[in-house]
Amino acid sequence: STPCHRLIVNLDIAGPTISRHLYGHFAEHLGRCIYGGFWVGEDSDIPNTRGIRNDVVAALRELNIPNLRWPGGCFADEYHWRDGIGPRDQRPRMVNSHWGDVVEDNSFGTHEFMDLCELLGAEAYVNGNVGSGTVREMSEWIEYLTRDDDSPMAALRRANGQDEPWKVPFFGIGNEPWGCGGHLRAEAYADLARQYSTYVRNHNGNDVYRIAAGANADDVAWTKALMEGLVRPGGPDSKGWPYQGISLHYYTMSGTWSAKGSATEFSDDEYWKTIKAAQHIETLLTAHSTMMDVYDPHKSVGLILDEWGTWWDVEPGTNPGFLYQQNTVRDALVAAIHFDSFHRHADRLAMANIAQAVNVLQAMLLTDPESGALVKTPTFHVFAMNADHQDALALHTHFATDAAHRHEDAALPTLTASASTKDGEVLVSLANLELEEERELVLDFRGSGFEIGESLVLAGDSAASFNAPKHPDAVAPRPLKVRELEDGQFVLVLPPHSFATVRGQVL
Ligand code: AHR
Repeated sequence: STPCHRLIVNLDIAGPTISRHLYGHFAEHLGRCIYGGFWVGEDSDIPNTRGIRNDVVAALRELNIPNLRWPGGCFADEYHWRDGIGPRDQRPRMVNSHWGDVVEDNSFGTHEFMDLCELLGAEAYVNGNVGSGTVREMSEWIEYLTRDDDSPMAALRRANGQDEPWKVPFFGIGNEPWGCGGHLRAEAYADLARQYSTYVRNHNGNDVYRIAAGANADDVAWTKALMEGLVRPGGPDSKGWPYQGISLHYYTMSGTWSAKGSATEFSDDEYWKTIKAAQHIETLLTAHSTMMDVYDPHKSVGLILDEWGTWWDVEPGTNPGFLYQQNTVRDALVAAIHFDSFHRHADRLAMANIAQAVNVLQAMLLTDPESGALVKTPTFHVFAMNADHQDALALHTHFATDAAHRHEDAALPTLTASASTKDGEVLVSLANLELEEERELVLDFRGSGFEIGESLVLAGDSAASFNAPKHPDAVAPRPLKVRELEDGQFVLVLPPHSFATVRGQVL
């Protein structure tokens, strides 16, 4: 048969570098993300290092996890870091009012988080408290973390057992100030962001990249207010500016905030609604980037999508405040769609953090509360298969195809792709979003010689397939056959609802 779908990869047209930080993660004191997910305590039967689960660390290391955001989220704006240092049995308790109204015993605090980052080989993204905190509290936290002399906070850190200062490259100035972070208006928050950022000092060569808390989804006016609020003392280098990044949050769901839909039981219509919502990320990144271009054409300020992913109704029988959800092939395709967009916007998008790493929302890993068994989700596999895009140069790609699904008033493209190159290696990511139909596709590498390497496909039996302790590999990457047609042209068949990667080398 004559294949009618073609992806052109221009090996000689490179775009921006895809920062490894686009593959970042997020861990909040929420449900079983920290407690039971990362942290089991030193006395647990689950193998651990100083209380941190070894299997969780090993799995995230497989993804080359570049950074981890903590402690929230909404929790960040009610967290007082001084409650989480010193002997664990003497730490004060608090109420985690956003997430399940449970009592937090602060056994996982600053030292435990920095230990976790070291075990993961990930850079720390600490999110400070604006909503219920003070400028002094935030200022002292960065001093405690990063200062190297006998300053009051450095001395306190030493007294708590940590001699050397840590490196904290990323610091968040509050979270969702338009909502749980204080219900502020954009202009009011923009002033607070300038004020708080001023006191997040660079100590001993620890150059902090400060991230002002940005918009919810389509709220471009919020981004405008933060760009207008920036003090720019000459030159395009944002280092001396109060904040270097502006965040954005966007969640994908098939329904509404009050009825988001089930993670595993969904109709075809709900599937396509999800795809449409995921594809909206392209519009959002374009809209916020364009607004930032008006004020900052050199793209010195980074757009930081520090919360993204699917948000479903919680699994039946679980605490509604814990946001525990299953993760299917549909979630994997949502991740694939996001990454293709991220690669296209890598000139402005400086970081992205999926919500969240373990047991919360679109997680990489799920742990069984009874047996402790760890499961890698379909989304985990997308992160693993895409890991070599980290710090690679985006390559120009385009489709010659009209493959689309008619949904309500829209024609949703059913093929999505992106490609990058690093050290002569090429990685192409592809997805076929069709529910029933496979797609024969020609890959057309132009601009240089190309030698094909390993190819993998992730599909599962249905778009609703998921992994669980009894079937941990129901959705896992398998080899994909690729046939050479002629010089630089290859043909492959993408199964329905599948994500694939094709590797090769520039000759
Ligand atoms: O990721 C869960 C929550 O979603 C975060 O705490 C908050 O920032 C957002 O609303």
